[in-house]
Amino acid sequence: MSLRDFLKDCEAKGEVVNVSGKVSSRLEAASLLAKYDGGPVVMLQDVEGKGLTVVGGICGIRERIYRALGVREASYFRVVSEALRNPIEPVVVDDAPVNEVDLGSSLEKLPVLTYYEKDPGPYITAGMVVAKDIDEGFQNASVHRLLVLDRERMAIRMVPRHLYALYKKAVEREVDLQVAIVVGIHPAVLFAACCNPPLGVDELWVANRLLGGRLRLTRCNKVDLLVPADAELLIEGVIKPGETALEGPFLDVTGTYDEARQQPIIRVLRVSMRRGALYHAILPGGCEHRLLMGMPREVSIWEAVSNVVPEVKAVRLTPGGCNWLHAVVAIRKQWEGDGKNAALAAFTGHPSLKHVVIVDWDVNVDDPIEVERAIALNVQGDEDLIMIKGARGSSLDPSSSKQGITCKVGVDATKKLRSTKS
Ligand SMILES: Cc1cc2nc3c(=O)[nH]c(=O)nc-3n(C[C@H](O)[C@H](O)[C@H](O)COP(=O)(O)O)c2cc1C
Repeated sequence: MSLRDFLKDCEAKGEVVNVSGKVSSRLEAASLLAKYDGGPVVMLQDVEGKGLTVVGGICGIRERIYRALGVREASYFRVVSEALRNPIEPVVVDDAPVNEVDLGSSLEKLPVLTYYEKDPGPYITAGMVVAKDIDEGFQNASVHRLLVLDRERMAIRMVPRHLYALYKKAVEREVDLQVAIVVGIHPAVLFAACCNPPLGVDELWVANRLLGGRLRLTRCNKVDLLVPADAELLIEGVIKPGETALEGPFLDVTGTYDEARQQPIIRVLRVSMRRGALYHAILPGGCEHRLLMGMPREVSIWEAVSNVVPEVKAVRLTPGGCNWLHAVVAIRKQWEGDGKNAALAAFTGHPSLKHVVIVDWDVNVDDPIEVERAIALNVQGDEDLIMIKGARGSSLDPSSSKQGITCKVGVDATKKLRSTKS
């Protein structure tokens, strides 16, 4: 299953806008992605005459992500949760389209975009990074922004999560960490790489389960890793222990600039691609970025709240909360107090969450007016709020302390049940 298969379907549904004129990779291409943000898929046919089509906005609306995963809104949480628990090993093939064109070890043929004025340089924003645990051999896949430093080097932003754990182990042993960066994959694969199953669960296996067993992998040439065979572009490289460069500042999901930090360097060993490759570019802070970050966390919240309340209808990380800091959760309340338990559970499901509103089953989580109405009619400020001071929140929240400490607030906006005690 490839990105091309998915885009054919989008085209047939009239969801693709083509821009044929020559476009600059510095700011102009990004401004076109911004123009269509949250709408159609955008194909920029000629970025700097590099011969590759730049495509953006693929996952820019929620319904398109549901379609890529083969789910309906009602089944989304359960299907993704099951895929995370029951991944399936993909087949491995020798003859892979991603190897059709060998570009040597240089990044210069790629139409890498510079998005905003203050960016320190061009960034690859839709790169899925695959790496392996040097002892146990399991793979991990995750999405990371990559600042192109020169023709053969990139700086990679690593939040201390799974890839960082693999990197740290390699640094401690003083060995290189091999990496493979894949750009232009089926959205279900990209989505899986944004999920956070426990370390040791290969997100590519999760993707294979989501795609009904139709994901094909292939072996890399210079590094010992398996990557999607039908990807558009593959960059193989190594991270040498101790080699770092300044990465950032860069715009994140909050629409504010993340600070610059010393981050590891990837040295490129080989670049290859499909003939007529499509280069996927994700607009930083745009809908595609926010949905790919937020939607997998909605599943984590759904799982956590389902542990304390039997029926959870829907979870939304809302657009006004940058699809990251604010959630609305609709539950079927059975007992007084369920709303507060649900709020506490939501915070455990998504540690970056700052404010959550719990509503009844019949409230539409996508309608801010319905949610506000539930707050207006059901909430007493001295009874229905929980406040957790001094908790760890999101490093992206500009109002939290320098260490990311924040105050979390849960609002129980469910209706009071009639007392069962007489
Ligand atoms: C467009 C996009 C860009 C991202 N950039 C980064 C990044 O630069 N660094 C990072 O650590 N996580 C980034 N993420 C989030 C991770 O990909 C995500 O948290 C993933 O689940 C981490 O994988 P892991 O559970 O294997 O650690 C990004 C996500 C998206 C959708």
